[in-house]
Amino acid sequence: MKKTFALLLAAVMMLAMLTACGGDKPADNAGSSQPNQTETTTPPAEVPDAPEGGGTIGVCIYQFTDAFMTTYRNALQEILEGKGYEVSVVDGANDQAKQNEQINTFITQGVDALIINPVMTSAADQIIATVKAAGIPTVLINREPAPEQMAVYDKLVYVGCDARQSGTMQGELILDTPNKGDINGDGKISYIMVQGDPENVDAQYRTEFSVKALKDAGMEVEELNLTRGDWMRERGQEIVANDLAQFGDQIEVVFCNNDDMAIGALQSIQAAGRKVNEDIYLVGVDALDAALNEVSNGNMTGTVLNDAVGQATAAVEQMEALLGGATFSSGNQSVYVDYVKVTPDNVGDFMK
Ligand code: GAL
Repeated sequence: MKKTFALLLAAVMMLAMLTACGGDKPADNAGSSQPNQTETTTPPAEVPDAPEGGGTIGVCIYQFTDAFMTTYRNALQEILEGKGYEVSVVDGANDQAKQNEQINTFITQGVDALIINPVMTSAADQIIATVKAAGIPTVLINREPAPEQMAVYDKLVYVGCDARQSGTMQGELILDTPNKGDINGDGKISYIMVQGDPENVDAQYRTEFSVKALKDAGMEVEELNLTRGDWMRERGQEIVANDLAQFGDQIEVVFCNNDDMAIGALQSIQAAGRKVNEDIYLVGVDALDAALNEVSNGNMTGTVLNDAVGQATAAVEQMEALLGGATFSSGNQSVYVDYVKVTPDNVGDFMK
């Protein structure tokens, strides 16, 4: 009798434990405080375990020549391999048709999960339909589709940053300068904007929110020029050389949507005999090593950390949650990692 009771008690306790586990959130994101945080839910039954001792993972990157995505993909590879996964990372060479083939090849090879940095956000519907048809758990990174596009597949999650935050921080970097960006004291901040590839919403948000921060602080602004540089250093250099030739001393601030373009911009600023933080300000985003050096040398006003390691860590966490059977509900499929403002005062904390 005693034995039967003990068995019954054990069974009840087991059931209670299982129920509690079923309600757990399987994936904690990388400590973001952004709005619309992801809630993950597990299905009530049949939750498969993540593959024991690894699995095979396909990683699709939009373009290997992109400086920031190089840091990001190296971090991803290191984290995944460190956890015992077999990893294959492929270069989409900025060609969506090529990336579609790469995704299909991974599916044919039977990978356990995919991590995809889409070439074109506008191709998200097609990418999502493909991975859904194959039932492959997928983490999208760096180029965020709309919530409605993601909602069609519950084994899909996006990991990235809220680019509005980085734009606002760029504006704040200018507002933190002694003359708030108005070097010539004419009552307005005259700037040029060097834009990234608008296929990534980061380009649009950084452009909008950097200037919004200035206006919200009550400053008058004047846009002298806005040119698309597609995230590339050489384009940054060309664009800023042309703008300096055209607008000369009128330019007080150079906003670049990323650091690689800012490094190119700096070359042209120096070639024109201008001096950052004295007669012109220059800001970027990403905190690439080269930009951290320039911030510390006083050749860039500041940058914003786009946390490649934090995002790679969060992407792998979410991938493992999916492999463990997590599903994501519609409207809650984005996980954000925070940006951090980098100034001459704290740049040392970010340098290796
Ligand atoms: C941005 C990053 C850029 C570029 C782009 C690619 O987040 O700041 O440097 O890598 O992603 O989509």
